[in-house]
Amino acid sequence: MGTGRGDGPVLGISAYYHDSAAALVAEGVPLAAAQEERFTRRRHDPGFPAHAVLSCLRQTGLRLDELAAVAFYEDPALKFRRVLATWLATAPHGYPVFRRAFPQWAGRKRRALDDVRARLRALAPGQRLPPLVAHRHHASHAASAFYPSPYPSAAVLCVDGVGEWTTTSLWHGRDTDLVPLAELRFPHSLGMLYSAFTYFCGFKVDSGEYKLMGLAPYGTPRYAPLIRQRLIDVKPDGSFRLDLRYFTFQYGRTMVGRAFEELFDGPRRTPEGPLTEREFDLAASVQQVTEEVLLRLARTALRRTGERRLCLAGGVALNCVANGRLLADGGCEQIWV
Ligand SMILES: [Fe+2]
Repeated sequence: MGTGRGDGPVLGISAYYHDSAAALVAEGVPLAAAQEERFTRRRHDPGFPAHAVLSCLRQTGLRLDELAAVAFYEDPALKFRRVLATWLATAPHGYPVFRRAFPQWAGRKRRALDDVRARLRALAPGQRLPPLVAHRHHASHAASAFYPSPYPSAAVLCVDGVGEWTTTSLWHGRDTDLVPLAELRFPHSLGMLYSAFTYFCGFKVDSGEYKLMGLAPYGTPRYAPLIRQRLIDVKPDGSFRLDLRYFTFQYGRTMVGRAFEELFDGPRRTPEGPLTEREFDLAASVQQVTEEVLLRLARTALRRTGERRLCLAGGVALNCVANGRLLADGGCEQIWV
């Protein structure tokens, strides 16, 4: 990875998924960063972050043609192949969704980098565009945690829903290097497990997870044994596999189906419907299991790197309750999120 400390100015862009944003880093120092929704007033705005890019340039007084590179936060071609492979592997299950959504989706996603180039050109007519590079999603996560951290070296753990294929990754960060050590791949995802419960409890995926975390202390984790027995097989080192019979996220637009409903006492809560004891207990249960997995992953990360400091990134690392447990019981001296 060459985007760490000591390079020329680099503009980083995240777009076309959720919470589009831009950041400008020069000589290893983040100089400006902005999220598009702050300008458009559209929550989780997934569009091209034109306002955020302009804001970063304005704040730093830099022009686009003065940048060493523009970095995109994931590899669209690789992600495209994952979605295609998943849909084909689960056919005919996902076929109706596939047929309806795929052509449009495929065109847009595969051409993501072309679109970024065109949008940048429109922002700075006549200027030479710097090279546009796509980094792996988890490499972006790892860099976002380790490079701004105050540590010369650390274990780096990234846990999220999914990027291209990777859902969980472990890195050893040393000075300007990030060395990948291990990864878990889609569809086995701790983020997807948490989002499945978010969906089942009637909240919005990629947004309502914090509500689920907030509900957890009101419940008792009476479903936790069931989650461990049926949904997720966790090894002592924290690696895990989901039992895919209970999930539907791999097919398209929903997260869970009938098998999941049968396991957890009936259909999902209707969004905005009344909250019952069941949702409190489901929240407490998935929170407990998530913490257990993270604790194991963190211990593995520290053991394999010989480090005492841990950097965390990815959607699951936004679970501040779990992070508190990591700091208390995870065996690390310090954590950086
Ligand atoms: Fe992510």
